Amino acid sequence: MRVLVTGSAGFIGFSVASRLLDRGDEVIGIDNFNEYYDSTLKVARNALLEKRKGFTLVRGDITNQKDLDKAFSLLTLPGTRNQEPITRVCHLAAQAGVRHSIDHPEIFLRDNINGFNMVIEEGRKKKVGGMIYASTSAVYGDNKEHPFSEAHRTDTPISIYGFTKKANELQAYLYHKMYGISCTGLRFFTVYGPWGRPDMALFLFTDKVLKGETLPVFGHGKMQRDFTYIDDIVSGVIATLDRNDPYEIYNLGGGKTEELMDYIGAIEKACGKEGKKEFLPMQAGDVVATSADITKARKALGYDPKTRISEGVPKFVTWYREYYGI
Ligand SMILES: NC(=O)c1ccc[n+]([C@@H]2O[C@H](COP(=O)([O-])OP(=O)(O)OC[C@H]3O[C@@H](n4cnc5c(N)ncnc54)[C@H](O)[C@@H]3O)[C@@H](O)[C@H]2O)c1
Repeated sequence: MRVLVTGSAGFIGFSVASRLLDRGDEVIGIDNFNEYYDSTLKVARNALLEKRKGFTLVRGDITNQKDLDKAFSLLTLPGTRNQEPITRVCHLAAQAGVRHSIDHPEIFLRDNINGFNMVIEEGRKKKVGGMIYASTSAVYGDNKEHPFSEAHRTDTPISIYGFTKKANELQAYLYHKMYGISCTGLRFFTVYGPWGRPDMALFLFTDKVLKGETLPVFGHGKMQRDFTYIDDIVSGVIATLDRNDPYEIYNLGGGKTEELMDYIGAIEKACGKEGKKEFLPMQAGDVVATSADITKARKALGYDPKTRISEGVPKFVTWYREYYGI
C-alpha cells in the first residue's frame, strides 16, 4: 500500500507513518512544520522518518496547490513493487487545539476547512483508492449523554476547532455522495504518549513537575477525559486504512474515562515527585468530561485499546526524560 500522510511531522502523523513503514508500506509525508508548538520536535520526528526506507517528505502546505500536486503525483506514480499500488490518503494535518482556535479562528478555517477541501478534491481528481481523516471528540460539544456515541447529535459545537472538524465530516459526506470517494472520519479522544504534543496536559504537567514549577489545574481538577494511548490510536488508524469503508465515522477513544487528578497522580508517580498545583476555573471551549463509546470501532475494526494511564503515562515520562535529558 502507498499512503500519503498529511501532517507527517505531527504527533499522530509521525506515529502512523512509522507503523506503516514497519509493515512495509510506502509513505509520502507532507507537512509545513508550522510554529504552533516548538517545531524542533517536528524536525526530530521527521528526521527519524527520513532515515527509513520507503519514506518521502514533501515539505509543503496542503493549502498550496503546487505542494499538493507534488505530494499526490508521488502517491499516484506507478509502483516499483507492482504497477498499480493501492493508494490511500491519511489526512491528519490540521490546526489542533481548542484554545488556539479561539485566538486564531482564521488559520483554523484556512488549514482545517479549506485545507481539507483541497486534499479531498485532489484525492478525487487523482482517483485515490480511499481517504481517512482525523475528526475529534470536540464535535460532541458539551453533550451531556455519556458515553459519546456516533449516533449522538454533533451539531452544537462549542469551539471553532470543533466546528471545523464537524465541517470536515460534512465535506467527507458530500464528496462521498457526489463522487463516490471512500472517506472515513475518526473521532480521536485526547491522544497521549511518547513524541506527544507540547501544548497538551501530559507534556505541560510533566515539564512542570520535573522542574518544580506550579501546575495550572483547570476546571478545579474536576475534569474527566477518555485518554487514548498513541499505539492504540495508530492501530485504529491502520485498521481503518485497511478496511477502506465507503463512508463511516468511528470514535477512537481509550474506552475508559479517567479523572484529571488521577492522570496528574500517574504523572507524579512516574516523575517520582509531587507537583505544586494551582486550581483554576474551566477555560473557554473546554468540556467537563469526554467518554467514548467504542462499540462500533470494536466491531468493525477490531479496535481494542489496551493501554491504561498507569502504563502509558510512565512510557511518556521515560521518553520525555531521555529526549530532553531531564
Ligand atoms: N492529539 C489529539 O489528542 C487529537 C485529538 C483529536 C483530534 N486530533 C486530530 O488529529 C490530527 C493530528 O493531531 P496531532 O495531535 O498529531 O497534531 P500535530 O499538531 O502534532 O500534527 C499536525 C501536523 O500538521 C501540520 N500541518 C498543519 N497545518 C498544515 C498545513 N496547512 N499544511 C501542511 N501541514 C500542516 C503541522 O505542522 C503538524 O506537524 C489533527 O487533525 C488533530 O486535529 C488530535
